[in-house]
Amino acid sequence: MTVVTTIPQMRALTRAWRQAGETIALVPTMGALHAGHLALVEAASRECDRVVVSIFVNPTQFGPNEDFTRYPRDLDGDLRALTGLGVDAVLAPSADGMYGPAFQTSVELAHLPKHLCGLTRTNHFGGVALVVAKLFNIVQPDAAVFGMKDYQQVRVIEQMVADLDQDVRIVRHPTLREPDGLAMSSRNRYLSPADRAVAPTLYATLRAIAEAVAGGANDAARLVSEGRARLETAGFVPDYLAVCDPDTLDDVVTVAGPVLVAVAARLGATRLIDNLVAVPGVAPGPAHPAH
Ligand code: PAJ
Repeated sequence: MTVVTTIPQMRALTRAWRQAGETIALVPTMGALHAGHLALVEAASRECDRVVVSIFVNPTQFGPNEDFTRYPRDLDGDLRALTGLGVDAVLAPSADGMYGPAFQTSVELAHLPKHLCGLTRTNHFGGVALVVAKLFNIVQPDAAVFGMKDYQQVRVIEQMVADLDQDVRIVRHPTLREPDGLAMSSRNRYLSPADRAVAPTLYATLRAIAEAVAGGANDAARLVSEGRARLETAGFVPDYLAVCDPDTLDDVVTVAGPVLVAVAARLGATRLIDNLVAVPGVAPGPAHPAH
């Protein structure tokens, strides 16, 4: 596993692999790796001959009042976690290497960022699209793996790839959860023990909505208001709870097919997100799938 910190170094490696006829999978991350990230890495090694993991806490996707400076950083721990998983290179560029002083280009999508997390994190998805476009240009992967935990992010990347004719296959990976259902996240470490005990209610609420949809409930406003009430009773401050179209993320009024049920809510100072796809007539899968 080679640790690469500059873009020319990375290009030299991937050029050699391509010339040897090998395929390349990329897993973009911001580090502080947990089992969710590692599952993406394992999936990547099943997709292609070579695996590149990028570790870069991307400043352009954090708002001025967000947690960029206190986002957990532990490159040594991350490299240990990746050992033995068949990773060929870790790309860990500096912020200056990615964004020089004259940097001025943006990548913006017109519609998808106007929903869900984009409502409060206004520049977030532009920053994500920009850094992922750069990573795709640097590594030129055949495939890139993204987690469904950040469903809106996956949709933004899929749309960007389609709109810009980027030659990358986007692989969606299911969300990894703790045994009690809480979606794994680098931010879970900020939860107090009391908040950690409450946190699984987030996923339980999504599942209750999926069960209602499976049983024929179709009034989205009612599903949302009941879900919000459950979250507030548990101690969450919901940012949004939405029942929406899985492709456009537009709100749905009457559920008549698969819908994305997505939530962001604060517990103390920590903002948690989660989602699932609910399908009329189809009960949600096992309560706490390993994947
Ligand atoms: P980060 O939050 O580090 O996540 C990296 C990848 O891991 C993303 O694709 C994310 O969806 C996935 N992931 C996180 N938790 C997961 C879980 N519990 N189960 C499955 N996958 C999970 O997302 C980012 O970084 C950044 O926005 C990035 C795409 C790297 C651009 O900077």
